[in-house]
This record gives sequence, C-alpha cells and structure tokens, in this order.
Amino acid sequence: MDIAVIGSNMVDLITYTNTMPKAGETLEAPDFALGCGGKGANQAVAAAKLGAKVMMVSKVGEDIFAENTVKNLQQYGVDARHVTVAPGTSSGVAPIFVDDQSQNRILIIKGANAKLSAADIDAAAEQLKACSLIVLQLEIPLPTVYYAIDFARQHGIKVILNPAPAVAGLDIDYACQCEFFMPNETELEILTGLPTSTDEEVLRAGQMLLGRGLKNLIITLGNRGSVWMQGDTVHRIDPTVVQAVDTSGAGDAFIGCFAHYWVQHGDIAKAMQSASAYAACSVTQRGTQRSYPDAETFQRFLTA
Ligand code: RIB
Ligand code: NA
Repeated sequence: MDIAVIGSNMVDLITYTNTMPKAGETLEAPDFALGCGGKGANQAVAAAKLGAKVMMVSKVGEDIFAENTVKNLQQYGVDARHVTVAPGTSSGVAPIFVDDQSQNRILIIKGANAKLSAADIDAAAEQLKACSLIVLQLEIPLPTVYYAIDFARQHGIKVILNPAPAVAGLDIDYACQCEFFMPNETELEILTGLPTSTDEEVLRAGQMLLGRGLKNLIITLGNRGSVWMQGDTVHRIDPTVVQAVDTSGAGDAFIGCFAHYWVQHGDIAKAMQSASAYAACSVTQRGTQRSYPDAETFQRFLTA
C-alpha cells in the first residue's frame, strides 16, 4: 500500500440551479446528478485513478447507499476492507448546489462518518503500518483525527492533514505535527483567525503556522493557484487556466493527486504542479469523483 485515507465518504446529490427557494416556496431546478463523494473518498479515488495503491478506513450507514459506496471504491481499485457499517445510522450525504458561474454550495450531513473512531484505526492497524502516507480531512470526529496523527507518528508514517471543512476547534499544535498541512484560503482564515483576502495576508497567516513548528504548509487558492511555504521559502504555483463548469471536489482532486505524486517521487513543487493541473482538469467536467481523470486522460489533458 502507498496511501491510506482515514476519512469520510458521502453521497453527493448535486442540483444545478441559479435560484434557491425561499421559505415556503417550491422551485424547479434544471438539472441533477447523483455521485459518490465525501472528501476522504474523493481524495482516495483521485490517487487511485492515477495508479496509486490506496486503502480507505471509513464508515457507511445501514441504508441503500452503503453497498454502492463500497462498490464504487472497489471499482477504482481502492482497498475497502476497512470500510464498515455503523449500525443504525444513515450514510453521509451532501446536497450540493452548483450555479452557472460554476460556484458550489455544499451542505454535509455526516451520518455514519461521525461514528468513525480510534477502534476503526486499531482494527486496520496492520495494514496501515505498511503505508507510507496517511491522508486526513475533518469530516470525521476530531479525536479520531488526533488518534490517526498519533498512530502515524508512532509508526513513522507521514501525514497530510487537509483541514476541510474548517473546524474552529482544531488543535493547531496537533496539525503542526503533520508533514503537510493543506488548507484553502478560507480554511486558513478560520483556523488562524487572521484575514486571508490578499496574497500578503495569506502569507502572514501562513507564517503564524510555520512559527508553531509546521514543516510544510500548502495553501490552495482556487483559480489563483497555490502556495507552498517551508521555513523562509515561499514557492508559488500558477493556476492552470480552464473553462470551469463545476468546481465541486476540485480541492480533493488536488490533494489526491498531490499525495500520489509525492509518494512516487518526493518532489513537492512538482507534485503541486501536477495537482494543480489535475484539479483544473476536474473542474471542466460535472460532478466530483466522476470528473477526476484517470492517468491516461490526465496525460492527454497535459499534452493538449
Ligand atoms: O469537497 C467536496 C466534497 O465535500 C463533496 O464530494 C461532498 O461530499 C463534501 O464532502
Ligand atoms: Na468537477
């Protein structure tokens, strides 16, 4: 195994509309798509589609979505033997609204994801120990995230922590123990309590985290590209410019792709460059996981 994602899966219910109903109102929306999502599963699938050996530790509910979620992961080659049912819960779902400016609004209902616990990590310990990288997000309970970080440290496994969605109560000192901390600018603002509207402000907020011992901070800035901060050096990656149709899951595409290439060759700047292009390619298609290109499609995108 190369990569383990300990995290969420969700069923994405994507409505394409420009107008949201007011209280008491019924509106018709032009289009809808059902897809497999969840930040954890998205990142696992992105890496797997590019050829990484990926395992997932995750929880599904006791409902009609569960089997499909597991099948979907397996179809992409993700080892799902530690994706288990949380009895009496519903699977995580995410109603998503995308407008014709390709902007998305996402609601998440965590369901079974809220039941992922330290015991699930223990149950997967033997397999996890064989991984070189653990990838974490914040759609599972914080104590489980901290337990995973401790587990990784004990076994010399590197960690990427993607603090999404931002949880103001995240223990920053814990986060700073990870090899990579990868927020977007909004998450960085919520977590540091500092403004991040301009590039200068982003760097200042970033410096605060580096001052607390963080090794590598990678901030994704949407269509403004991304920034890698390490010690006193700041490395900027320009965005790949495309015509966006649906940006949902683009951040996950970036992280899954980054994880894959970093495990492969260890070159952070190069992995960011690939991740940036990969995320750009994903926004040209509707949906989350279904919009992530496989290795061959990605090669074609790069050479087009
Ligand atoms: O980051 C996008 C993802 O956030 C969606 O797939 C949705 O499920 C939510 O988890
Ligand atoms: Na997309």
